[in-house]
Amino acid sequence: MHIRRPCRIVEELLLSLNGIIKPGIKTIDIDSYARAFIESRHGVPALKGYKGFPGNVCISVNNVAAHGIGGGYVLEEGDIVTVDTTVGVNGWYGDGAWTYIAGAGTPEKKRLVKAAWKAMTAGISEAVPGRRLGDIGNAVEKTARRYGCRVIEDLAGHGIGRDIHEEPVVLNVGKKGQGLPVVPGLVITIEPILTLGAKDIHIHTDKWSIITGDNNLTAQFECTLAVFSNHTDVLTLNSINLEKYIDFPPMF
Ligand code: MF3
Ligand code: CO
Ligand code: CO
Repeated sequence: MHIRRPCRIVEELLLSLNGIIKPGIKTIDIDSYARAFIESRHGVPALKGYKGFPGNVCISVNNVAAHGIGGGYVLEEGDIVTVDTTVGVNGWYGDGAWTYIAGAGTPEKKRLVKAAWKAMTAGISEAVPGRRLGDIGNAVEKTARRYGCRVIEDLAGHGIGRDIHEEPVVLNVGKKGQGLPVVPGLVITIEPILTLGAKDIHIHTDKWSIITGDNNLTAQFECTLAVFSNHTDVLTLNSINLEKYIDFPPMF
């Protein structure tokens, strides 16, 4: 399966960023690190130039829900930072994102990050033959709510493979038993973005960064997964025993 290689590079990069994202680092230096990391493994940082996106990866800090661009900002203690990376190898794409806390973080920030992880893993558990996309969205949404968080409904997962974004749209809300069936051969991302505040968003004057309307904090995890008849392979979480980490993100 050609998509395994880019997904592996996504996972290795997101794991290694654990040691990089700390107070004092400039977000442009995270972007440069990611580019060098991906290229050293013979991947392509596929977001660079995608629809004109200027970064190699998306770096979204605090109230930036998605599509943030690395720049001169220096991370401060307690910042919540999401890095989202799409990697290409031989025309096949893998996509993943993790949220990190620079420094220690407060219990509330940890709750948000944990909720985003749990919302994603709850969605993964529904991504098996016999379920529908509405089951995934429903599980994601319910999990977010259980932690006192809201899902940003305008942003969704997607099919992936020969293109960065393919059909179908994988919503982070839904009704049980509704939507397209989950069938063997389906390759999708699950990527809920959660916030502690209201779920409306707007686009920053940089034309890319998606900001929460009330400037509340956000967190996101994203995986790429492939559905088989008897199991689901979470391609960007290959080295992690997901059963062990079903409740806590690996860096906690
Ligand atoms: N990787 C992102 C996703 O999860 C796509 C970002 S598009 C960009 O779908 F243009 F903002 F980079
Ligand atoms: Co992504
Ligand atoms: Co994606």
